[in-house]
Amino acid sequence: MVNTKVSLSGLELDNPVIPASGTFGFGYEFAELYDINILGSFSFKGTTREPRFGNPTPRIAECPNGMINSVGLQNPGIDKVISEELPKLKKCFNKKVIANISGFSVDEYAYCCERIDKEEQVGLIEVNVSCPNVHNGGMAFGTSAKAAAEVTKAVKAVTTKPVYIKLSPNVTDIVEIAKACEDAGADGISMINTLLGMRIDLRTKKPVIANKMGGFSGAAIFPVALRMVYQVYEAVKVPIIGMGGVSSADDVIEMMLAGATAVQVGAANLVEPYACKNIIEELPKTMEKYKIDDLTSIIGGAH
Ligand code: FUM
Repeated sequence: MVNTKVSLSGLELDNPVIPASGTFGFGYEFAELYDINILGSFSFKGTTREPRFGNPTPRIAECPNGMINSVGLQNPGIDKVISEELPKLKKCFNKKVIANISGFSVDEYAYCCERIDKEEQVGLIEVNVSCPNVHNGGMAFGTSAKAAAEVTKAVKAVTTKPVYIKLSPNVTDIVEIAKACEDAGADGISMINTLLGMRIDLRTKKPVIANKMGGFSGAAIFPVALRMVYQVYEAVKVPIIGMGGVSSADDVIEMMLAGATAVQVGAANLVEPYACKNIIEELPKTMEKYKIDDLTSIIGGAH
């Protein structure tokens, strides 16, 4: 019997598989398809202080082995997440959830994190400083080490639960930003968010996406994500949640060998809603195939 359990800053997970924010709603939507209690946890849709309608459409473009999204942080706002979404989730998920929080100012991040920290079902807060689809917010805080550290400090000052900062790959040196977040008190790092990309429609000769550009994700970005996780693991002591193009149990193991303690699955959920279920079912067989008894023992094993 293999051991798939992992621990994120004291949050014990039955397995390291976590649907990524923005690809799993608030969980109950997927509970109509399968028992989502098999998941390690999941990260809910990026939440802001105010409700957001999101960006104009079209906001999705398909690509070989991936996709571009420019959703624009569509969400019902922190009040409704607390009063409506979390109670619905509680009915079908008896584990701790990861709260993904985004914002347009340091104060907004702190406000939302302080509110969500009080929710019993929240086990960990993922601070999204890396959304590439909004102006003057999201990624603006994740492309500067100073700004990322400022958000981290402000959030840590008002929360009690582990705080992981979700980083952008759209930077020259992600290691510098990860270190700045760790120095500012982050309990962990989530990485990577999407890569800024675009497509042009050959018939209209104009960008496919109304916002012109968007975040590229899916299997095509896996080697980039893996490389960044590998580099950050060498530089920080805090745990890493690795993500970016993970689509199979093999990918989960590769990501953990690079240095991830847990692994998020994003775009794969949009292609195959059972992707996380399939990966969780495959994981023990894949571990046996590669002679791995205990997943925790392989974290960073490739170094
Ligand atoms: O546009 C979006 O809602 C995406 C968010 C993100 O990538 O963090």
